[in-house]
Amino acid sequence: MKQKVVDILQKHTTELIDKQMIDVPTHARLGDFTLPCFQFAKKMKKSPTLIAEEIAGNIQDPTIEKVEALNGYVNIFMKRTGFTQSIMNTILYEVNHYGSSNVGGGGVVTIDMSSPNIAKPFSMGHLRSTVIGNCMALLLEKSGYQPVKINYIGDWGTQFGKLLVAYRLWGNEQQVQKAPIQTLLALYIRFHKEAELDDSLNDQGRAAFKSLEDGDLEALALWKWFRTESLKEFQKIYDVLGVTFDSYKGEAYYNDKMDPIVEELQRKNLLVESDGALVVNVGENMPPCIIKKSDGATLYATRDITAAIDRHNTHKFVKSLYVVGNEQSLHFVQLKSVLHQMGYKWADTLQHIPFGLILKDGKKLSTRKGKIILLEEVLKEAIQLAEDTIDEKNPSLLNKKEVAKEIGVGAIIFSDLKQHRKHDIEFDLKKMLQTEGETGPYLQYTYARACSILRKAGVVGEFSVEEVNNHEWEVIKCLEQFPAVVNRATTELDPSLMAKYAVELAQAFNSFYGNVQIVTNSSLMAYRVSLVQSVVIVLEQALRLLGMKAPKEM
Ligand code: ARG
Repeated sequence: MKQKVVDILQKHTTELIDKQMIDVPTHARLGDFTLPCFQFAKKMKKSPTLIAEEIAGNIQDPTIEKVEALNGYVNIFMKRTGFTQSIMNTILYEVNHYGSSNVGGGGVVTIDMSSPNIAKPFSMGHLRSTVIGNCMALLLEKSGYQPVKINYIGDWGTQFGKLLVAYRLWGNEQQVQKAPIQTLLALYIRFHKEAELDDSLNDQGRAAFKSLEDGDLEALALWKWFRTESLKEFQKIYDVLGVTFDSYKGEAYYNDKMDPIVEELQRKNLLVESDGALVVNVGENMPPCIIKKSDGATLYATRDITAAIDRHNTHKFVKSLYVVGNEQSLHFVQLKSVLHQMGYKWADTLQHIPFGLILKDGKKLSTRKGKIILLEEVLKEAIQLAEDTIDEKNPSLLNKKEVAKEIGVGAIIFSDLKQHRKHDIEFDLKKMLQTEGETGPYLQYTYARACSILRKAGVVGEFSVEEVNNHEWEVIKCLEQFPAVVNRATTELDPSLMAKYAVELAQAFNSFYGNVQIVTNSSLMAYRVSLVQSVVIVLEQALRLLGMKAPKEM
């Protein structure tokens, strides 16, 4: 709608008009759009009042109801009925395709997301990466890209040598079977404690990792077992979140693929020796990227370089995203720089998608010092709290357990996505689960309310729009925005835009619902019910794109 207004205004002034110059007034009585004319005064050498009057006096367009010049503003009122009819027709016809586009032209975007480390708890950071990455995948898909979700499992590195030593010394098979991650983490912590007193343990750890790298069968079998048990635990979390992956190629997958890459670095004269290690310099004020330690062991960066090249060979991506916390920013700058120096132009399309921490009472949720907060427990608690609310509000609800899961999980997802991802977020389960305010449950309740109106109304026939009141108009304007929001959230890779949109739509709908009688005997009913139907379609899409479920009854 804004673009249309831009086009119309452009016809009536010699100044260049763009979308940013037009505002949406805070009061409906000031129109749907307004053009402040102060911005032209200096250049046109006229007062804003005069400019506004001149522009307003000239405008004539079949889509515009009324134009008003007021205190240097041109206030524009759109013709509501035709507009409303056309937006609703579009939504009811396109249904779930409303807002879809082919901006991406089928281009592949790889998304490195979640990527937890085996034998360690699934952290809050991994949760954020999962939720943000999943939403980006859904948005990209809606815009015609082909997302490939890669779970780059952290399953390789010197720490696994230490774990092998610890398990052989103090491990117990049944315990690992029963609570794999807790047990393995405890072993790892014990290893570090004891190694402080006995340094020879560290040598043993290095040797054990070396044997793993060299393919020692017994070491490999143990490592595989740790991996399988850990993945089973992670899978429980993915099932609850409703997130799937296209690939689980993790760090270990690249163990036997790094040699040619190190040779390539050598051939391209990029490797430099530094304290016995092999490094690539990445810039004056930055630490070099370490490729091989003095004992010949490869590192996180070595594997990431190898993985990036493999991903490009496999997928020919147009973009490659890494949804990983702020704290790894330097690593991704180094990664891009090394690939650049190797002559890979596509390194430009690599993008680190950083995000902030999850805080509890202002402090980082930590997995260290034994103070583990297990995500599984958190999810369970959220679901339980949601179930308590259902028991209180709608005890006869049929599939209570399933709905409680959808609300509990939705609350966590929404609280993560509603702010720009770079911000830290405060983790407060009770607050996230409130049914009022900007929360997941608020959106889901709104959706369920709209569905219940549709059930009550039954089938309505054709509608024609004769009049659009202010409440209806706010809803319509919001519905019209949806395709533009999908587009912006995708290009800016910013899920919070979609989250904020969902809140705005829900608020507009709730004020319509609270002020306008929808199910009536009059001829208005078919129109109003169809408007509710349109909201149901768009709100469901918005929730789906965020990775949330939309229960029809709560
Ligand atoms: N496993 C890493 C961690 O937990 C995250 C991996 C991110 N992805 C990557 N390609 N480096 O910190």
